[in-house]
Amino acid sequence: ERPWGLAEHGRLGKRKVVGVVVLDGWGEAPPDPFNCIHVADTPTLDALKKVPASLFSSLTLLHRFRFGSYMRMEILCLCGCMAWQGAPERWRLIKAHGTAVGLPTDDDMGNSEVGHNALGAGQIYAQGAKLVDLALDSGKIYEGEGFKYIQQSFDTGTLHLIGLLSDGGVHSRIDQLQLLLKGASEHGAKRIRVHILTDGRDVLDGSSVTFVETLENDLAKLQEKGVDARIASGGGRMYVTMDRYENDWQVVKRGWDAQVLGEAPHKFPSALEAVKKLRDDDPKANDQYLPPFVVVDESGKPVGPIVDGDAVVTFNFRADRMVMLAKALEYEDLDKFDRVRFPRIRYAGMLQYDGELKLPSHYLVAPPEIERTSGEYLAHNGVRTYACSETVKFGHVTFFWNGNRSGYFNPNLERYEEIPSDTGIPFNVQPRMKAVEVAEKARDAILSGKFDQVRVNIPNADMVGHTGDLEATIAGCKAADEAVKIILDAIEQVGGIFVVTADHGNAEDMVKRDKSGKPIRDKDGNVQPLTSHTLNPVPIAIGGPGLAPGATFREDLPDAGLANVAATLINLHGFEAPRHYEPTLIQVSPVPF
Ligand code: 3PG
Ligand code: CO
Repeated sequence: ERPWGLAEHGRLGKRKVVGVVVLDGWGEAPPDPFNCIHVADTPTLDALKKVPASLFSSLTLLHRFRFGSYMRMEILCLCGCMAWQGAPERWRLIKAHGTAVGLPTDDDMGNSEVGHNALGAGQIYAQGAKLVDLALDSGKIYEGEGFKYIQQSFDTGTLHLIGLLSDGGVHSRIDQLQLLLKGASEHGAKRIRVHILTDGRDVLDGSSVTFVETLENDLAKLQEKGVDARIASGGGRMYVTMDRYENDWQVVKRGWDAQVLGEAPHKFPSALEAVKKLRDDDPKANDQYLPPFVVVDESGKPVGPIVDGDAVVTFNFRADRMVMLAKALEYEDLDKFDRVRFPRIRYAGMLQYDGELKLPSHYLVAPPEIERTSGEYLAHNGVRTYACSETVKFGHVTFFWNGNRSGYFNPNLERYEEIPSDTGIPFNVQPRMKAVEVAEKARDAILSGKFDQVRVNIPNADMVGHTGDLEATIAGCKAADEAVKIILDAIEQVGGIFVVTADHGNAEDMVKRDKSGKPIRDKDGNVQPLTSHTLNPVPIAIGGPGLAPGATFREDLPDAGLANVAATLINLHGFEAPRHYEPTLIQVSPVPF
């Protein structure tokens, strides 16, 4: 085994407190009325941006203090210094989407899973989406242990496929489901039931209708070939099944009742009718929050409850929002909700969602083996870490950051703290979320002297951005900015270093645009809110009184991305980064000052 010890960094001292802020969903885009980050009052983040070049050219006697704290950084000095020494770059953009974070193509927007994986691991891994593509393309998926396992049920049982129905590419992709349907039927599945979760979050609201149409067409084709294939149940992803980090088990229960028990408040003869009617009947209905429904036959009987002897596949490749259902399907004992019935089934995940818990124990595609993350290196080198967020993003700065691994590397050195998220209140109703509470926990951790790295995720720009509510998103961004200030003030107080960055874009672009970038308007002049993430880069700002004189951003990495942050952090803790990491963003030169 390769050694874990890291060499000391010659020019960067150890034991400086490093505050790491991940602003979830905080991308960079030109000023625009639909750029909520631009519209919001964000003095702290604004101050972290470099002084525009134009300002330099118009004021030749102006310079920023080179080594000041973030407060002083903004002081434009007109003191008459004749030699402007060139301000160190402490704010830049890094890539947060596509191949830079291990996604199949550069048309794939970033997301929190791959973003935090890259930030924490310092290496770019082919991610779930890509691995599933490869396994389906090559047909290897049907030769694997997972498929062979569920296949044993095909003769006498039904194959159930449960997952998110869209082409968002964040948790799942409809084209992968289509291939799996075809492949499973070719490999012996005779009766198939799909349990859909409508999206409207990684894709436009309202698109569920088209996705259901597409799926029903495919299932009709299978029926022509003699396969008894139907959609059996459904519901909106945020209300049914796809909760995460155990925020609200009722979400999983609603799904369980429909998928397993065949019970739901709404019954329809087909999923297409369900989705259309549920949307039409309630003007406030949206794909993310559609109520659960089951599809019933002429006699009103559900067409596809899950029963003993069936096979089940959860076809999402991303873990966070499938782990809870995986537990419900797999664990003999579960006290989170009353399952009423616990069917004896053969269950496989598209991927294994948690390598530590080995959950689920059967899976169709092996997940990326994210190894030797920065968290593990730092723990081996005595760096004490504190990580915190509120429930809905807690696993992002712990589980995803640590390469999809639950728990501590070294419990003596690490402390992870979760602030309970409010449940049942839409994020646009409480756009401030727990930003300030998370920041205050971080502040206390920084001031305690007990930690070297204090890491948080501030969720507002993302979670509120996903609602498509512009006004609320603006309020959320303001709250996030206030949270950053609390943390930077604490860093200032202890003479530490801050790194403020983000995992992907979201709130900086909240409207559907045409190819030229203009918002698309309907005949009444209305625009369609963009609830999804974006392809935009994200900022990274580094500074604070503890930052060594002479530390600047390197100029030879114009294409750097999130994976370059881990080496940077390891440097800031006073160590050389492992050689196999993506290169550090900073350089440290001796500076006469
Ligand atoms: C979600 O799960 O909320 C979205 O699909 C993606 O958002 P995240 O990647 O920011 O968590
Ligand atoms: Co998001």
